[in-house]
Amino acid sequence: MCRWVFGKISIAFVLIGLLLQTAQAGDPERSGERVYQAVCQYCHETGIGPKLTGRQLPSAYIQHVARNGLRAMPAFRITEISHQELASVAKLIETSNGGVE
Ligand code: HEC
Repeated sequence: MCRWVFGKISIAFVLIGLLLQTAQAGDPERSGERVYQAVCQYCHETGIGPKLTGRQLPSAYIQHVARNGLRAMPAFRITEISHQELASVAKLIETSNGGVE
């Protein structure tokens, strides 16, 4: 009985260990579309922030604002949006002709 309980507990620890390992492996990079839809759209398609798409805003400016914030616009840290993800979303906005689908 005691051995049986101990066995279950060690299996639980192994499973927790595996879960932690997968979490550490890091999430895969999100595409520019995913980041835009998950983060930027919430304010920038609802009138809280100005419309960004179709304005040919330079990618460098978009990345600067997203990293540093601008008045009411919050700054996003690298743990929230990676460099690669920010570069993708900035390029997407810069080259968009009015909307991101
Ligand atoms: C919580 C709401 C919110 C979110 C989320 C948000 N923004 Fe903003 N953003 C704003 C507001 C508000 C402004 C206007 C700031 C001002 O001028 O006071 C702004 C301004 C900007 C500007 C400057 C626009 C201009 O006309 O010069 C850029 C570029 C920008 N945001 C990019 C982004 C990007 C890229 C994302 C997603 C990674 C994002 N924002 C997410 C609220 C948000």
